[in-house]
Amino acid sequence: MARIDEIVDGIYRISTTFDLDGFDFQFNQFLIDDERPALIHTGMYAMYDDVRGAVGEVLDPGRLAYVILLHFESDECGGMDRFLEGAPDSALACSAASVQLNLSGWNYRGRVEGHQDGEVIDLGKHKLRFLETPHVHHWDSMMLFDETTKSVFPSDLFIQPGDQPAIVTENLGSEMCGFYREMGIFAHEDPVRHVVDRIDRLGPDWIHGMHGGSLRRETIPSFVRALREEPFAYRGKVLGRELPTEIGAAQ
Ligand SMILES: [Fe+2]
Ligand SMILES: [Fe+2]
Repeated sequence: MARIDEIVDGIYRISTTFDLDGFDFQFNQFLIDDERPALIHTGMYAMYDDVRGAVGEVLDPGRLAYVILLHFESDECGGMDRFLEGAPDSALACSAASVQLNLSGWNYRGRVEGHQDGEVIDLGKHKLRFLETPHVHHWDSMMLFDETTKSVFPSDLFIQPGDQPAIVTENLGSEMCGFYREMGIFAHEDPVRHVVDRIDRLGPDWIHGMHGGSLRRETIPSFVRALREEPFAYRGKVLGRELPTEIGAAQ
């Protein structure tokens, strides 16, 4: 079952913890209650009823104006078609690159708008600015910065495995980097550190990650430090599985 918590000023974290082969891992969606409400990430296809129910505790899901996709994976957007169908005035908002690379050239026919770096979606009180963050996980990746609450929505950056509280105050920076090395989700540290510096310059009051708890201003520096100082890029493991490193080793 999804639990829902208001983290700050109309931003709700909807969170479900799964047991993935012996370890706990959370999948979060963020609902912004505003004149034009937005849902950031939808969760996987099978999570739809639960996530919709959680949204319904705050507002009618038929009022959603935006479903926001930060990169194209099932935990980001597996429920997008049904959220869009259920909200007649809604649009899928994502990066311009996502539209070009992942939402055209096949039979996707949903309403979609692609955005470039610096563009802002005005929800009413909240203003969501798009940050294009290529190669922070995927080449179409983007993040959002809510100018009203100074909140970053970084998707899979600032991850914390485990069954975490809605707001994490612990320094889990080394655990985060170790988890990234096991999962192999970043090809290289450089593009990620470039974005970490950019986030740092924004001076956020909040970081609302997709996996784990939200981080307050005072907790953010320990995670930033770990990302600057510790290795976390791909080292031969994908989803915890060691891959052959020598040419021909897999034959
Ligand atoms: Fe991802
Ligand atoms: Fe994710």
